[in-house]
Amino acid sequence: MIHETDMSRDIERILLTEDELLKRIDEVATVLTEDYRGKDPIVVGILKGAIPFYAAMSCRIDTPIQEDFMCVSSYGSGTTTSGEVKIRKDLDTDIRGRHVLILEDILDSGLTLKLLRKLLLERGAESVKICTLLDKPSGRKVEIAPDYTCFTIPGGFVVGFGLDYAEHYRNLPYIGILKQEVYSA
Ligand code: IMP
Ligand code: MG
Repeated sequence: MIHETDMSRDIERILLTEDELLKRIDEVATVLTEDYRGKDPIVVGILKGAIPFYAAMSCRIDTPIQEDFMCVSSYGSGTTTSGEVKIRKDLDTDIRGRHVLILEDILDSGLTLKLLRKLLLERGAESVKICTLLDKPSGRKVEIAPDYTCFTIPGGFVVGFGLDYAEHYRNLPYIGILKQEVYSA
């Protein structure tokens, strides 16, 4: 059960502190700045999980970008690649001929991002790349690799810095491993 007054009581241990997160985001932002200089990319945040990551990353990219957001979820059995993306909130921007950089909280099964990347390429984007805060390769069900990764993590369920369990814990300033009793009770 989710603790009603103290989020930290539900955390087994802290995996990444706020300082560690911001330091690494700063490093990756330097790489993105160079890779996207002069390309005026559309940086797409995937709602809601990417919000803190997006906020930290976008203001550290030191070259012009355009910002946009999508809210998506994937259909499909999880073992097939022929799922469909359900779009809850679409882009406001015409991406034809544009460089698109997707910012995502975590790459787990990979199903959603594989379908999303295909969709955006079909819409005529010049390039579609993925930058993920966390990569959990042990959860992968389809073949996809992020173009930029801040941290690779082992299996286990993590929350905080945008990541949720039952829509809670997104506002923790760090990434922590959720106590098993929270989701097994
Ligand atoms: P997938 O890669 O298509 O499985 O989708 C990744 C999505 O699953 C993320 O955007 C999260 O919403 C959710 N997710 C996967 N692993 C975790 C986790 O450890 N904690 C919180 N959410 C997760
Ligand atoms: Mg979620």
